[in-house]
Amino acid sequence: MVSTWEDFYAKHPPPQDLAQNEQALKEFTRKHLEAGNKVVLVTSGGTTVPLEHNTVRFVDNFSAGTRGSVSAEYFLEYGYAVIFMYRVKSLEPFSRHFIGQKFLDLLQVSNNNENSVITVLPEYTQKVATVLRKYREAFNKKKLLQLTFTTFSEYLWLLRSACQALAPLENKAILYLAAAVSDFYIPSNEMSIHKISSSGPPTISLQLVPKILAPLVSLWVPKAFVVSFKLETDESLLISKARTALNKYHHNLVIANMLQTRKQQVIIVSKETNYVLSLTNEQLDNGEEIEQLIVRDLIEKHIK
Ligand code: PMT
Repeated sequence: MVSTWEDFYAKHPPPQDLAQNEQALKEFTRKHLEAGNKVVLVTSGGTTVPLEHNTVRFVDNFSAGTRGSVSAEYFLEYGYAVIFMYRVKSLEPFSRHFIGQKFLDLLQVSNNNENSVITVLPEYTQKVATVLRKYREAFNKKKLLQLTFTTFSEYLWLLRSACQALAPLENKAILYLAAAVSDFYIPSNEMSIHKISSSGPPTISLQLVPKILAPLVSLWVPKAFVVSFKLETDESLLISKARTALNKYHHNLVIANMLQTRKQQVIIVSKETNYVLSLTNEQLDNGEEIEQLIVRDLIEKHIK
Protein backbone atom coordinates (compact mmCIF):
# COMPACT_ATOMS: atom_id res chain seq x y z
CA MET A 1 0.00 0.00 0.00
CA VAL A 2 1.25 3.53 -0.80
CA SER A 3 0.44 6.18 1.76
CA THR A 4 0.05 9.71 0.44
CA TRP A 5 2.70 12.36 1.03
CA GLU A 6 0.23 14.24 3.29
CA ASP A 7 -0.17 11.08 5.34
CA PHE A 8 3.55 10.71 5.60
CA TYR A 9 4.08 14.18 7.07
CA ALA A 10 1.08 13.78 9.37
CA LYS A 11 2.36 10.51 10.82
CA HIS A 12 6.11 11.10 11.06
CA PRO A 13 7.50 13.70 13.47
CA PRO A 14 9.98 16.28 12.14
CA PRO A 15 13.66 15.87 13.02
CA GLN A 16 14.84 17.74 16.11
CA ASP A 17 17.16 20.07 14.22
CA LEU A 18 14.54 21.09 11.62
CA ALA A 19 13.77 24.54 13.08
CA GLN A 20 17.48 25.39 13.17
CA ASN A 21 17.94 24.22 9.57
CA GLU A 22 14.88 26.20 8.48
CA GLN A 23 16.41 29.35 9.96
CA ALA A 24 19.67 28.74 8.08
CA LEU A 25 17.73 28.10 4.86
CA LYS A 26 15.68 31.25 5.28
CA GLU A 27 18.75 33.44 5.81
CA PHE A 28 20.64 31.87 2.92
CA THR A 29 17.83 32.12 0.39
CA ARG A 30 16.88 35.66 1.46
CA LYS A 31 20.46 36.86 0.97
CA HIS A 32 20.71 35.33 -2.51
CA LEU A 33 17.24 36.48 -3.54
CA GLU A 34 18.25 40.06 -2.67
CA ALA A 35 21.54 39.65 -4.56
CA GLY A 36 19.71 38.28 -7.63
CA ASN A 37 21.70 35.03 -7.55
CA LYS A 38 20.55 31.65 -8.76
CA VAL A 39 20.43 29.02 -6.03
CA VAL A 40 20.72 25.29 -6.64
CA LEU A 41 19.66 22.67 -4.11
CA VAL A 42 21.85 19.60 -4.55
CA THR A 43 20.73 16.48 -2.69
CA SER A 44 23.39 13.84 -2.25
CA GLY A 45 24.05 10.40 -0.74
CA GLY A 46 21.65 7.67 0.28
CA THR A 47 18.91 7.70 2.88
CA THR A 48 18.58 4.99 5.52
CA VAL A 49 15.43 3.15 6.57
CA PRO A 50 15.52 2.30 10.28
CA LEU A 51 14.18 -1.09 11.34
CA GLU A 52 13.73 -0.06 15.00
CA HIS A 53 12.82 3.20 16.79
CA ASN A 54 15.89 2.75 18.99
CA THR A 55 17.84 2.11 15.85
CA VAL A 56 20.47 -0.58 15.86
CA ARG A 57 19.81 -1.83 12.34
CA PHE A 58 18.77 -0.07 9.17
CA VAL A 59 18.45 -0.64 5.43
CA ASP A 60 20.95 1.43 3.46
CA ASN A 61 22.03 1.85 -0.15
CA PHE A 62 25.25 2.13 -2.12
CA SER A 63 25.37 5.89 -2.83
CA ALA A 64 28.67 7.50 -1.79
CA GLY A 65 27.59 11.06 -2.59
CA THR A 66 30.07 11.43 -5.44
CA ARG A 67 27.53 12.75 -7.96
CA GLY A 68 26.20 15.36 -5.56
CA SER A 69 29.46 16.57 -4.03
CA VAL A 70 31.30 16.88 -7.36
CA SER A 71 28.33 18.60 -9.02
CA ALA A 72 28.09 21.08 -6.13
CA GLU A 73 31.68 22.16 -6.77
CA TYR A 74 30.97 22.77 -10.46
CA PHE A 75 27.78 24.74 -9.73
CA LEU A 76 29.83 26.96 -7.41
CA GLU A 77 32.44 27.37 -10.12
CA TYR A 78 29.71 28.60 -12.50
CA GLY A 79 28.62 31.23 -9.97
CA TYR A 80 25.60 29.51 -8.41
CA ALA A 81 24.87 29.57 -4.70
CA VAL A 82 24.51 25.98 -3.47
CA ILE A 83 22.45 24.36 -0.73
CA PHE A 84 24.15 21.01 -0.32
CA MET A 85 21.83 18.57 1.44
CA TYR A 86 23.77 15.40 2.15
CA ARG A 87 23.79 12.18 4.08
CA VAL A 88 25.94 12.34 7.21
CA LYS A 89 29.43 10.92 6.46
CA SER A 90 28.93 10.85 2.68
CA LEU A 91 31.21 12.90 0.42
CA GLU A 92 31.20 16.69 0.70
CA PRO A 93 32.39 19.30 -1.81
CA PHE A 94 36.11 20.13 -1.46
CA SER A 95 36.90 17.81 1.47
CA ARG A 96 36.10 14.87 -0.84
CA HIS A 97 39.57 15.39 -2.40
CA PHE A 98 41.28 14.57 0.87
CA ILE A 99 39.52 11.68 2.52
CA GLY A 100 40.93 8.66 4.33
CA GLN A 101 44.45 7.53 3.58
CA LYS A 102 44.61 9.90 0.57
CA PHE A 103 44.80 12.76 3.06
CA LEU A 104 47.73 11.29 5.01
CA ASP A 105 49.58 10.55 1.76
CA LEU A 106 49.65 14.30 1.03
CA LEU A 107 51.58 15.13 4.19
CA GLN A 108 55.15 14.89 5.45
CA VAL A 109 56.63 15.31 8.92
CA SER A 110 59.98 16.94 9.65
CA ASN A 111 61.70 18.25 12.77
CA ASN A 112 62.49 21.89 13.35
CA ASN A 113 64.30 22.57 16.66
CA GLU A 114 62.78 19.41 18.06
CA ASN A 115 59.24 20.52 17.13
CA SER A 116 57.39 18.40 14.61
CA VAL A 117 56.45 20.35 11.51
CA ILE A 118 53.81 18.99 9.13
CA THR A 119 53.76 20.20 5.54
CA VAL A 120 52.09 19.21 2.29
CA LEU A 121 54.42 17.29 -0.02
CA PRO A 122 55.65 19.62 -2.80
CA GLU A 123 54.07 17.54 -5.57
CA TYR A 124 50.62 18.02 -3.99
CA THR A 125 50.91 21.66 -2.87
CA GLN A 126 49.36 23.10 -6.02
CA LYS A 127 46.37 20.77 -5.89
CA VAL A 128 45.74 21.38 -2.19
CA ALA A 129 46.09 25.16 -2.66
CA THR A 130 43.61 25.17 -5.56
CA VAL A 131 40.98 23.21 -3.64
CA LEU A 132 41.56 25.18 -0.45
CA ARG A 133 41.14 28.53 -2.27
CA LYS A 134 37.85 27.43 -3.84
CA TYR A 135 36.62 26.11 -0.48
CA ARG A 136 37.47 29.33 1.36
CA GLU A 137 35.92 31.46 -1.39
CA ALA A 138 32.65 29.49 -1.25
CA PHE A 139 32.36 29.92 2.50
CA ASN A 140 33.67 33.51 2.71
CA LYS A 141 31.20 34.62 0.06
CA LYS A 142 28.48 32.58 1.82
CA LYS A 143 27.77 30.72 -1.42
CA LEU A 144 27.55 27.27 0.19
CA LEU A 145 25.15 26.04 2.86
CA GLN A 146 25.51 22.42 3.98
CA LEU A 147 22.72 20.54 5.74
CA THR A 148 22.60 16.88 6.71
CA PHE A 149 20.14 13.99 6.88
CA THR A 150 20.46 10.30 7.66
CA THR A 151 17.05 8.63 7.48
CA PHE A 152 14.59 8.95 4.61
CA SER A 153 12.18 10.67 7.01
CA GLU A 154 14.77 13.36 7.87
CA TYR A 155 15.40 13.74 4.13
CA LEU A 156 11.72 14.23 3.29
CA TRP A 157 11.23 16.81 6.06
CA LEU A 158 14.36 18.74 5.15
CA LEU A 159 13.54 18.63 1.43
CA ARG A 160 10.12 20.17 2.05
CA SER A 161 11.61 22.91 4.22
CA ALA A 162 14.27 23.62 1.60
CA CYS A 163 11.55 23.93 -1.04
CA GLN A 164 9.57 26.35 1.12
CA ALA A 165 12.68 28.52 1.49
CA LEU A 166 13.46 28.32 -2.24
CA ALA A 167 9.94 29.05 -3.51
CA PRO A 168 10.35 32.88 -3.49
CA LEU A 169 13.31 32.55 -5.87
CA GLU A 170 10.87 31.21 -8.49
CA ASN A 171 12.78 30.31 -11.69
CA LYS A 172 16.09 31.28 -10.05
CA ALA A 173 15.83 28.09 -7.98
CA ILE A 174 17.20 24.84 -9.37
CA LEU A 175 16.67 21.46 -7.76
CA TYR A 176 19.24 18.80 -8.58
CA LEU A 177 17.95 15.68 -6.84
CA ALA A 178 20.90 13.30 -6.95
CA ALA A 179 20.31 11.65 -3.56
CA ALA A 180 19.37 7.98 -3.64
CA VAL A 181 16.09 8.08 -1.74
CA SER A 182 14.60 4.91 -0.29
CA ASP A 183 11.56 3.61 -2.11
CA PHE A 184 10.44 1.36 0.76
CA TYR A 185 10.08 1.87 4.50
CA ILE A 186 8.50 0.57 7.68
CA PRO A 187 5.79 2.97 8.89
CA SER A 188 6.55 4.48 12.27
CA ASN A 189 3.58 2.77 13.98
CA GLU A 190 4.67 -0.67 12.71
CA MET A 191 8.30 -0.38 13.70
CA SER A 192 9.69 -2.25 16.69
CA ILE A 193 10.52 0.09 19.59
CA HIS A 194 13.59 -1.87 20.67
CA LYS A 195 16.25 -3.92 18.93
CA ILE A 196 14.55 -6.74 17.01
CA SER A 197 15.13 -10.01 18.82
CA SER A 198 17.25 -12.60 17.04
CA SER A 199 15.44 -15.50 18.71
CA GLY A 200 13.68 -16.25 15.40
CA PRO A 201 13.71 -14.97 11.81
CA PRO A 202 11.85 -11.63 11.76
CA THR A 203 9.13 -10.85 9.23
CA ILE A 204 9.53 -7.33 7.97
CA SER A 205 6.85 -5.73 5.84
CA LEU A 206 7.84 -2.67 3.84
CA GLN A 207 5.59 0.01 2.37
CA LEU A 208 6.20 2.25 -0.61
CA VAL A 209 7.53 5.72 0.20
CA PRO A 210 5.29 8.32 -1.48
CA LYS A 211 7.04 9.91 -4.49
CA ILE A 212 7.88 13.33 -3.21
CA LEU A 213 8.53 14.70 -6.70
CA ALA A 214 4.76 14.99 -7.14
CA PRO A 215 4.02 17.69 -4.52
CA LEU A 216 7.47 19.19 -5.00
CA VAL A 217 6.83 20.06 -8.66
CA SER A 218 3.13 20.82 -8.54
CA LEU A 219 2.89 22.63 -5.18
CA TRP A 220 6.10 23.53 -3.41
CA VAL A 221 8.37 25.00 -6.11
CA PRO A 222 6.21 25.12 -9.26
CA LYS A 223 8.43 27.71 -10.97
CA ALA A 224 11.79 26.12 -10.16
CA PHE A 225 13.90 24.16 -12.64
CA VAL A 226 13.76 20.57 -11.39
CA VAL A 227 16.21 17.84 -12.36
CA SER A 228 15.67 14.34 -11.02
CA PHE A 229 17.93 11.31 -11.45
CA LYS A 230 16.97 7.81 -12.50
CA LEU A 231 19.17 4.91 -11.54
CA GLU A 232 18.69 1.46 -13.06
CA THR A 233 20.65 -1.76 -13.31
CA ASP A 234 18.73 -3.07 -16.35
CA GLU A 235 19.64 -0.91 -19.35
CA SER A 236 16.53 -1.80 -21.30
CA LEU A 237 14.38 0.02 -18.71
CA LEU A 238 16.45 3.16 -18.27
CA ILE A 239 15.05 5.57 -20.89
CA SER A 240 11.46 4.41 -20.61
CA LYS A 241 11.49 4.85 -16.82
CA ALA A 242 13.07 8.29 -17.12
CA ARG A 243 10.42 9.31 -19.63
CA THR A 244 7.62 7.90 -17.48
CA ALA A 245 8.86 10.04 -14.57
CA LEU A 246 8.89 13.17 -16.78
CA ASN A 247 5.36 12.51 -18.02
CA LYS A 248 4.10 11.80 -14.53
CA TYR A 249 5.69 14.63 -12.56
CA HIS A 250 6.05 17.25 -15.32
CA HIS A 251 9.45 18.47 -14.20
CA ASN A 252 12.23 19.64 -16.51
CA LEU A 253 14.83 16.91 -16.89
CA VAL A 254 15.77 13.43 -15.84
CA ILE A 255 19.40 12.39 -15.77
CA ALA A 256 19.43 8.66 -16.34
CA ASN A 257 22.35 6.52 -15.24
CA MET A 258 23.30 2.89 -14.93
CA LEU A 259 24.77 1.67 -11.65
CA GLN A 260 27.81 0.14 -13.35
CA THR A 261 28.72 3.05 -15.66
CA ARG A 262 27.43 6.06 -13.73
CA LYS A 263 30.85 7.70 -13.42
CA GLN A 264 31.46 7.56 -17.17
CA GLN A 265 28.11 8.01 -18.87
CA VAL A 266 24.70 9.57 -18.30
CA ILE A 267 21.71 10.19 -20.56
CA ILE A 268 20.01 13.56 -20.43
CA VAL A 269 16.29 13.01 -20.93
CA SER A 270 13.88 15.88 -21.60
CA LYS A 271 10.32 15.83 -22.95
CA GLU A 272 11.59 16.49 -26.46
CA THR A 273 14.79 14.51 -26.69
CA ASN A 274 17.49 12.43 -25.09
CA TYR A 275 21.24 12.38 -25.57
CA VAL A 276 24.33 10.84 -24.04
CA LEU A 277 27.12 12.62 -22.18
CA SER A 278 30.20 10.48 -21.69
CA LEU A 279 33.89 10.45 -20.92
CA THR A 280 36.41 8.30 -22.76
CA ASN A 281 38.47 5.84 -20.71
CA GLU A 282 41.45 8.13 -21.16
CA GLN A 283 39.56 11.17 -19.82
CA LEU A 284 38.40 9.11 -16.86
CA ASP A 285 41.96 7.94 -16.14
CA ASN A 286 43.12 11.56 -16.29
CA GLY A 287 40.72 12.44 -13.49
CA GLU A 288 38.09 14.22 -15.60
CA GLU A 289 34.63 14.15 -14.06
CA ILE A 290 31.32 13.47 -15.79
CA GLU A 291 29.66 15.94 -13.39
CA GLN A 292 31.51 18.80 -15.09
CA LEU A 293 29.87 17.81 -18.40
CA ILE A 294 26.46 17.47 -16.73
CA VAL A 295 26.56 20.84 -14.97
CA ARG A 296 27.92 22.64 -18.06
CA ASP A 297 25.26 21.02 -20.24
CA LEU A 298 22.45 22.05 -17.88
CA ILE A 299 23.66 25.62 -17.68
CA GLU A 300 24.36 26.07 -21.39
CA LYS A 301 21.35 24.25 -22.81
CA HIS A 302 18.58 24.02 -20.27
CA ILE A 303 18.48 26.45 -17.35
CA LYS A 304 17.17 29.80 -18.57
O1 PMT B 1 26.34 9.07 -4.99
P1 PMT B 1 26.95 8.27 -6.12
O2 PMT B 1 27.64 7.04 -5.61
O3 PMT B 1 27.81 9.13 -7.01
O4 PMT B 1 25.72 7.76 -7.03
C1 PMT B 1 24.95 8.68 -7.73
C2 PMT B 1 23.52 8.15 -7.96
C3 PMT B 1 23.58 6.91 -8.83
C4 PMT B 1 22.86 7.82 -6.62
C5 PMT B 1 22.71 9.30 -8.67
O5 PMT B 1 23.31 9.58 -9.91
C6 PMT B 1 21.25 8.89 -8.88
O6 PMT B 1 20.88 8.24 -9.85
N1 PMT B 1 20.36 9.29 -7.91
C7 PMT B 1 18.93 8.94 -7.90
C8 PMT B 1 18.75 7.53 -7.44
C9 PMT B 1 17.31 7.24 -7.16
O7 PMT B 1 16.85 7.42 -6.07
O8 PMT B 1 16.60 6.88 -8.19
P2 PMT B 1 15.03 6.49 -8.08
O9 PMT B 1 14.68 5.87 -9.34
O10 PMT B 1 14.76 5.69 -6.81
O11 PMT B 1 14.30 7.89 -7.88
C10 PMT B 1 14.15 8.76 -8.96
C11 PMT B 1 13.89 10.18 -8.47
O12 PMT B 1 12.71 10.20 -7.67
C12 PMT B 1 15.04 10.73 -7.66
O13 PMT B 1 15.52 11.94 -8.24
C13 PMT B 1 14.45 11.00 -6.29
O14 PMT B 1 14.80 12.29 -5.80
C14 PMT B 1 12.94 10.94 -6.52
N2 PMT B 1 12.27 10.27 -5.40
C15 PMT B 1 12.69 9.06 -4.97
C16 PMT B 1 12.01 8.44 -3.93
C17 PMT B 1 10.91 9.10 -3.36
N3 PMT B 1 10.24 8.58 -2.37
N4 PMT B 1 10.52 10.29 -3.82
C18 PMT B 1 11.17 10.89 -4.83
O15 PMT B 1 10.78 11.99 -5.27
